[in-house]
Amino acid sequence: MSNRIYSIAVDGPSGAGKSTLAKAIAAERNILYVDTGAIYRTIGYYVFRCGIDPHDSFRVINVLPEIHVDMVYSEDGLQHMLLNGSDVTDVIRLPEISMYASAVSAIPEVRAFLLDMQRDLARRRSVIMDGRDIGTVVLPDADVKIYLTADVGKRARRRLNELIERGTPRRYEEVLQEMIQRDWDDTHREIAPLREAEDAIRVDTSDLNFEESKAALLDVIRRRLGEE
Ligand code: DC
Repeated sequence: MSNRIYSIAVDGPSGAGKSTLAKAIAAERNILYVDTGAIYRTIGYYVFRCGIDPHDSFRVINVLPEIHVDMVYSEDGLQHMLLNGSDVTDVIRLPEISMYASAVSAIPEVRAFLLDMQRDLARRRSVIMDGRDIGTVVLPDADVKIYLTADVGKRARRRLNELIERGTPRRYEEVLQEMIQRDWDDTHREIAPLREAEDAIRVDTSDLNFEESKAALLDVIRRRLGEE
């Protein structure tokens, strides 16, 4: 493997397996995994805690200067999110925070606030970064761009299984409706909507298990980096 710095952008709707797969690939290739959704979740969590309506852009923009987001990595390579110095890694995963994250992420000032932070991370070392606009906006020159997707029913089922494993089961119908709503919000917002970059490789994981999906992604990455 060469020592050059490279970047891999992974975009796609929620529940397509982006974070699980990107994490595994980062470990395999010994590069940094950056979960950009967690950064939006951290802002969403702050807004939630302030009791602000996340669609009220004026109020959200007003509190941005009070927010300091840091990303630190524990020895096992896990990304931890710090909000004004406190570790919020777990709490930002609560389902109600997903909607807050989605709403605040539609505000241009919020995206601008986070853009440099994301670009800086990729300047310093090789990264695999996942999100919605990584290949289109954050890292338009990424060496590898992957658009990871799967059928919405399958994504809802996977999300439900995660919730069951965490001991917080929900009804399938509810999870599916939220997934459909979030897909709509993420693809129809005016700024940096979720869309496939023209030079992205599309990988559909609807009928692939974890190992098969990982192998498919590693194959795309190796080919795009000219390693075989
Ligand atoms: O990937 P996730 O579900 O943790 O992301 C939470 C929300 O953040 C998602 O609804 C859309 C938004 N997001 C974004 O707008 N741009 C990114 N690069 C990553 C996430």
